[in-house]
Amino acid sequence: MEDRFAFLTEWYDPTSALLRRYQLFYYPRDGSVEMFDVKNQRIFLRRTKYNDMHQEDLFIGNRVNVFSRQLHLIDYGDQYTANKLGSKKERTLALIKPDVVTKIGDILELIYSSNLIVTKAKMTKLTWSQAADFYTEHQGKPFFNNLVQFMSSGPVVAMELMGDEAMSIWRGLLGTSDPAVARREAPQSVRAQFGTDGIKNVGHGSDSPAAAARETEFFFPSTIGHGPSNTAAFTDCTCCIIKPHAISEGLAGKILNSISAGGFEISALQMFNMDRVNAEEFYEVYNGIVTEYPNMVTELCSGPCMALEIHGTDAPKTFREFCGPADPEIARHLRPTTLRALYGKDKVKNAVHCTDLPEDSVLEVQYFFKILDG
Ligand code: TYD
Ligand code: MG
Repeated sequence: MEDRFAFLTEWYDPTSALLRRYQLFYYPRDGSVEMFDVKNQRIFLRRTKYNDMHQEDLFIGNRVNVFSRQLHLIDYGDQYTANKLGSKKERTLALIKPDVVTKIGDILELIYSSNLIVTKAKMTKLTWSQAADFYTEHQGKPFFNNLVQFMSSGPVVAMELMGDEAMSIWRGLLGTSDPAVARREAPQSVRAQFGTDGIKNVGHGSDSPAAAARETEFFFPSTIGHGPSNTAAFTDCTCCIIKPHAISEGLAGKILNSISAGGFEISALQMFNMDRVNAEEFYEVYNGIVTEYPNMVTELCSGPCMALEIHGTDAPKTFREFCGPADPEIARHLRPTTLRALYGKDKVKNAVHCTDLPEDSVLEVQYFFKILDG
């Protein structure tokens, strides 16, 4: 019998403002999908070949795009699927400490090369009491005050990672807590490479499923607007969006490294799952102006994207030049070192969006970091 994986999914229907439930079926043999409307008990999408669906994207909590609808996978649809795909999938919180947030590109490279995916990310600056709350298990220990002081001294980057055995893989990438020991035992680990001492040891990783649940909820609460706030400052800045195709190709680390190497400061960073209405609204200035507009919208809501606030004097102009011509083919001929030349595929999947008009820069940063992260 042919393999068939079943999931219960939710789709937010913007026209009726309703959450609709579908069963999603995926047939790995020919890469086809089928959808069943749960409420109305009828076929919603006949079995159809769909090349943009990949088996590794099918796990609980993830969002997948099926013909422009972003479906949230909320449960397995049957025991067979749960047994076959669900066995070792885990999530973990990965926290990058204040002194090494500039190493985020290198760290993401390691994460992606370990077959983990980043499902949530946010740069945030913790208050003293938020940091104390996060590390509550260490309250009363001799290092507690110094640890909390350090963790609230500057921006951190919190991420939710997903994958097979995500907790132990991320803790393995970190290496042992003391960087001096890590340098002897695991020289490739991030604590060995970037760590300073017992407190300045690069990052944190959840050590149990309960801790992972508590810690991801701490940074990414289910109630919107209740977590630690983002670090956007909305001055001397421009907006960069790493597009969904580049995120799913695992290019985020390389792109962030290129941006830093280009001399730009990343003053805010957050992953978003755009729905169609938001993507249309964000790109509204291109509606009727560029022929790619509908495809740009589809691309932007096809999976998670990463929004950045790029800080610097004259950032709108210099960063736009750094992104290069919108068409990567042209960029590769004329400006081969630009982001689009290096990481873009075509005019729609051109790796990054950046603000075109300097007067829109703050507005675009606000759209993500004020309106969507309200
Ligand atoms: P712990 O949970 O033991 O380590 P890990 O981060 O590997 O899970 O400790 C949490 C943090 O507390 C650790 O990253 C740094 C700090 N710490 C010290 O500064 N000194 C110490 O002796 C210990 C045990 C921890
Ligand atoms: Mg710990």
